[in-house]
Amino acid sequence: MFGKARTKAWKHLENVYKHFNEVQMKDLFANDAKRVEKYTIQFENMLVDFSKNRIDENVMSALYELARERGIKEQISEMFSGKKINTTENRAVLHIALRNRSGKPIYVDGRDVMPQINATLEKIKNFSEAVRLGIFTGCTGKKLTDIVNIGIGGSDLGPFMATSALRHYWAKDIRCHFISNIDGTSCTEVLNKLNPETTLFIVASKTFTTIETLTNAKTCRKWLVDALGEYAVSKHFIALSTNKEEVAKFGINTDNMFEFWDFVGGRYSMWSAIGMIIAIAIGYKNFERMLEGAHAMDNHFLNSDLEHNIPVILALIGIWYNNFYNIHRYAVIPYDQYLQYLPSYLQQLDMESNGKSVSLDNKYVDYATGPVLFGGAGTNVQHSFFQLIHQGTEIVPTDFIVPAISHNEVGAHQQILLANALAQSEALMYGKTEEEVSEEMEASGKSKAEINRLKKYKSFSGNRPSTTIVLRKIDPYNLGMLIAMYEHKVFVQGKIWNINSFDQFGVELSKKLASNILSELQGVNTSNSHDGSTTNLIKYIKNIRK
Ligand code: F6P
Repeated sequence: MFGKARTKAWKHLENVYKHFNEVQMKDLFANDAKRVEKYTIQFENMLVDFSKNRIDENVMSALYELARERGIKEQISEMFSGKKINTTENRAVLHIALRNRSGKPIYVDGRDVMPQINATLEKIKNFSEAVRLGIFTGCTGKKLTDIVNIGIGGSDLGPFMATSALRHYWAKDIRCHFISNIDGTSCTEVLNKLNPETTLFIVASKTFTTIETLTNAKTCRKWLVDALGEYAVSKHFIALSTNKEEVAKFGINTDNMFEFWDFVGGRYSMWSAIGMIIAIAIGYKNFERMLEGAHAMDNHFLNSDLEHNIPVILALIGIWYNNFYNIHRYAVIPYDQYLQYLPSYLQQLDMESNGKSVSLDNKYVDYATGPVLFGGAGTNVQHSFFQLIHQGTEIVPTDFIVPAISHNEVGAHQQILLANALAQSEALMYGKTEEEVSEEMEASGKSKAEINRLKKYKSFSGNRPSTTIVLRKIDPYNLGMLIAMYEHKVFVQGKIWNINSFDQFGVELSKKLASNILSELQGVNTSNSHDGSTTNLIKYIKNIRK
């Protein structure tokens, strides 16, 4: 039982926190010459420095104890073994199988899932290569050069983030586009740029029932058919889905369907057929490298002990802030323009997975679960929300993701970028006392009065935590490792909080209400009852749109 009757390790952590919450990180650094060594892990091309967090040996050992008490090692093994750990939907959780390069079987209900996964990968390989080589062409025989992914949530964010992150690897004559939002602007702006003869539409939807995706797909289908006729559909539309029946109903030949399965959650699906646009853009070999990177992280996660396990450590540090410091927010800042969409991707991964308030034993939780995640690319965000992170009243634990080498080494750009990334974590940790500010102002000849007037404004409390993750370069392999690392971090936190990280019932209620309101906006139905505000808003908007 986890919850009100707190576990032993949890209670111990509450105690540790009482004695630790005033501790300053700069003192911890000053008093421990081995701190960086102790709190840095290198794994292949990735270095994770978590030394600038409010931790010491005592804190970490209490956190590891919590992980042991929660049976994290056993729970990791359960996921990898194909156990149906998504209990509310009675499904296994096997995104790790999608990138299982070990040649070993993984069983669900006594059946090895690897043959079907490998067969689909082979299909992705053949199709993506045929498109890239101009063997699979449009209906008029022209090479397909513009690939449009129509999908939303997990059927958009992963492919969008990964193709953007790997922009450097795109084939020269291929352009990728993404239509996700139901706002007509989304498809209009994309379609305006395209030639139907050279466009391939990928309809990506696990369920094939998502209103945004199906509406966008219908609009694109009409655009294509108006230009080239009905016969064009089979050469310009493919589907990525688990739902053959709905794909056929929509009018896409199921020969053009690439399958995945219910043991792949939407937000964990970029490694499956949902990654088709990635494979077309960067080539199957590179797509495979991404799977290999993720697989390397999977092995690290499965086989490392808790004390050397990157996703486990990051998860535990997150729990430390979330549940003991009561800091329920968290930022991810990639210092790489190609990774600019990583925070949006992680928002779904983290917040849709762990934004839950009912435990696995069917009880409302009485402790905080998933934090609010936000972020953006550095250095841009230094000029927007970083003021708050440095001097605001909210503490925001921050992950800095820092590729050492850029794909575009232009003059001193990369050194300036790197210097800024490292300076952020240093400034957050050290801060600047009023005395230091005074000395500096005095040295530059400022008057006593001026110093007194400004020293508080110019000082920084410091002791603000961050973790720095250095990668050699953003290549497919390293990206795979990085994403898998965050997936597993989210998993561990969900397990500590005893929640199901793999369902998402929270998105259902408003979907149902939207369909009621839609019928009212369309004048089909006026009988639904709403609160006064909603009724008035419907009336007001209908009036404007008359
Ligand atoms: O936002 C809810 C959700 O179900 C996500 O979990 C999913 O990634 C997204 O909608 C899209 O679903 P589908 O791939 O079935 O269209």
